[in-house]
Amino acid sequence: MQISAVAKEINEWSGSVLICGILEGRIESQINSFKTIIKDTYLSQRFNDAKFEGQKSQKLSIELNEGKIKKIIFVGLGKAENLRVEDLRKAASIGTRQVLGYEKKLGISFPWDAFDPSSAASAVGEAVRLSSIKDLRFKSEPKESTSIEEVELIGLNVKATELAIAEINPICEGVKFARELVSAPPNFLTPYQMAKEAEKLASDYDLDLKILNKQECEDQGMGAYLAVAKGSDLDPKFIHLKYSSKTAKNKIVLIGKGLTFDSGGYNLKVGASQIEKMKYDMGGSASVLGAARAIAELKPNNIEVHFIVASCENMINGSALHPGDIVKASNGKTIEVNNTDAEGRLTLADALVYACKLEPNAIVDLATLTGACVIALGDEIAGLWTDDDKLSSQLTKAAAKAGEGIWRMPMQDSYKSGIKSSIADLQNTGPRPGGSITAALFLKEFVNSSIPWAHIDIAGTCWTEKDRDINPKGATGYGVRMLVNWIKDLSQKPN
Ligand code: BES
Ligand code: MN
Ligand code: ZN
Repeated sequence: MQISAVAKEINEWSGSVLICGILEGRIESQINSFKTIIKDTYLSQRFNDAKFEGQKSQKLSIELNEGKIKKIIFVGLGKAENLRVEDLRKAASIGTRQVLGYEKKLGISFPWDAFDPSSAASAVGEAVRLSSIKDLRFKSEPKESTSIEEVELIGLNVKATELAIAEINPICEGVKFARELVSAPPNFLTPYQMAKEAEKLASDYDLDLKILNKQECEDQGMGAYLAVAKGSDLDPKFIHLKYSSKTAKNKIVLIGKGLTFDSGGYNLKVGASQIEKMKYDMGGSASVLGAARAIAELKPNNIEVHFIVASCENMINGSALHPGDIVKASNGKTIEVNNTDAEGRLTLADALVYACKLEPNAIVDLATLTGACVIALGDEIAGLWTDDDKLSSQLTKAAAKAGEGIWRMPMQDSYKSGIKSSIADLQNTGPRPGGSITAALFLKEFVNSSIPWAHIDIAGTCWTEKDRDINPKGATGYGVRMLVNWIKDLSQKPN
């Protein structure tokens, strides 16, 4: 998709479909600016008939018989005083959805003046690209409908948006990659296949890659991770990718939960626990690998980024974990597994210990960790746990810029009593109330307290059941853009 800013007025633009943002309460003056394309009395009549007042998310398509432009899709942006970049993003995806499958070229005209040009360009460019992605890989006869090839942001400053626009495609390809990893079913995306994808990234973008096989993980003493993997016929793959710029001052580790399928194990997922959806239990690792792809292409300076995935399946066979087993993680801590369905934290425990050995400046993990987080925050907001205020504000800012919902949750140390075991150092689950807090506290046991660390629970946000804003139904690729924004920020202002 070719995205560009064009320094033109609407009436000089040539293309067949135009998406126009309309501010509520200023209809008259805006109608006036279309005078050369549509007769103002006609347009005002159409707006009246449709009760189109420019309220947020209202839309109205008007077909034109004369002139170059064949169709204008008006999308409401709400009141000017409340206008935020987020509204442009939403309006762009509403408009895009109207033309998907029909049009190759789109023009977009929004009230850009209220925004920093590069922020507006990235938000709108990303919105068009991300809302138009369709995954046809598993159709026997993929019907390739017309896809949007060209997008022109009409009236945006060309020079001021050049850099931002150049980054849209690498970032969106990272999101697309993450979405495809998540939506691939568990018989396609196995731990082995995930390692293959990492190998491909490494060779395409010249990243360093280390893959630890089962034996090598055993040598590292990763007893918690391997305990989860042993119930599956498929071998675990511990993936470690590294991006490094020439001058690397900051060292960051990103970890993603990588359960290619989570059956629950002997604490089998039954009833309404949505076992059939559990291919998305590698959403964290997908976001981390998606970020790796984008970062490898954008090549930020002053930074070294490690991407780590302890990938495996949570299955049931004769050697699977028994509920009640005691396992030992690579930092020596013993864990009583009182629930085999709390497997993500077991895999992350060893990944966190491994990450700390790299002595990074910060560690961030993303994981579809708890159903409790979905209950607390729904599917638009991820939970963030960290003791580090600086890291919290950096990540919150990076997420806000991406339009990705995130909310800091309490690391309530007193709840640690919930994961005390009478026989081992810890047990892997606590009581149901506050379940995502005890999950975070469990992870904290495996992080060196001198290293700033954040845990992000994306159990709700990695998937959407319906088309929502820039996310078509299915995998969202949540987190890729937040991580990329964060890494870019760090690379511009090294510690
Ligand atoms: N992968 C699940 C969490 C999950 C649930 C993600 C629903 C997305 C939607 C995780 O491994 C899990 O099963 N967690 C348990 C923990 C419990 C046993 C303490 C849960 O949330 O029920
Ligand atoms: Mn589970
Ligand atoms: Zn899981």
